[in-house]
Amino acid sequence: MNSKPTNIFAVRSRIDAAARRRRNGHRGGVLWLTGLSGAGKSTLAVEVERSLFDVGYHAYVLDGDNLRHGLNSNLGFSQEDRTENIRRVGEVAALFADAGFICISAFISPYRTDREKARMAARQDFHEIYVMADVATCESRDPKGLYERARRGEIPDFTGVSAPYEVPESPELIVDTMSFSVEESVQQVLDYVSRKFKLAD
Ligand SMILES: Nc1ncnc2c1ncn2[C@@H]1O[C@H](COP(=O)(O)OP(=O)(O)OP(=O)(O)O)[C@@H](O)[C@H]1O
Ligand SMILES: [Mg+2]
Repeated sequence: MNSKPTNIFAVRSRIDAAARRRRNGHRGGVLWLTGLSGAGKSTLAVEVERSLFDVGYHAYVLDGDNLRHGLNSNLGFSQEDRTENIRRVGEVAALFADAGFICISAFISPYRTDREKARMAARQDFHEIYVMADVATCESRDPKGLYERARRGEIPDFTGVSAPYEVPESPELIVDTMSFSVEESVQQVLDYVSRKFKLAD
């Protein structure tokens, strides 16, 4: 399982990244949203996707809950499974970026080393966005009732309660959802995209 196969030969596409950029009118890349449960990742991801789509960007959301029903349905929440979850998502996000999309991923992704692997998959097209809200704030929002269940001991390994969250050390962007409204937070991400995803960059 761990030994590298020796009979694999990469196929080179006849379309290069510059041609895809020209066709799309923008660069591809990954907006990797990370933060606690309830910090606002999914809320921002779908709003940013909608706004980008409306002005002509090719954008697509990969969301934790959705992918756990399909691609990652065989994975749980142990550290090992979370790592594999993020490894797969990182690879898929990198493929979307390569295809020319702005891929917006919304995963807690609590471990720094896992996020670094996702960064390595997409290389220079990876943009880490820390969706910042502390446990107290997220717990007071508790949009899915998960903190309440975690405090009752019904959810083992719950990030921020019984499992760690490693804060990003040098994210490309921090969105402080404790201080800004949804609309303001969305605008901060859109401003970032308009700075970083232009063709000339
Ligand atoms: N500035 C903000 N940006 C995003 N969400 C906000 C903001 N302010 C308040 N909220 C609220 O916080 C909640 C965030 O929930 P959301 O499902 O987006 O979190 P999440 O990070 O995707 O959590 P999970 O990891 O459990 O999927 C929503 O109820 C949203 O309305
Ligand atoms: Mg979510």
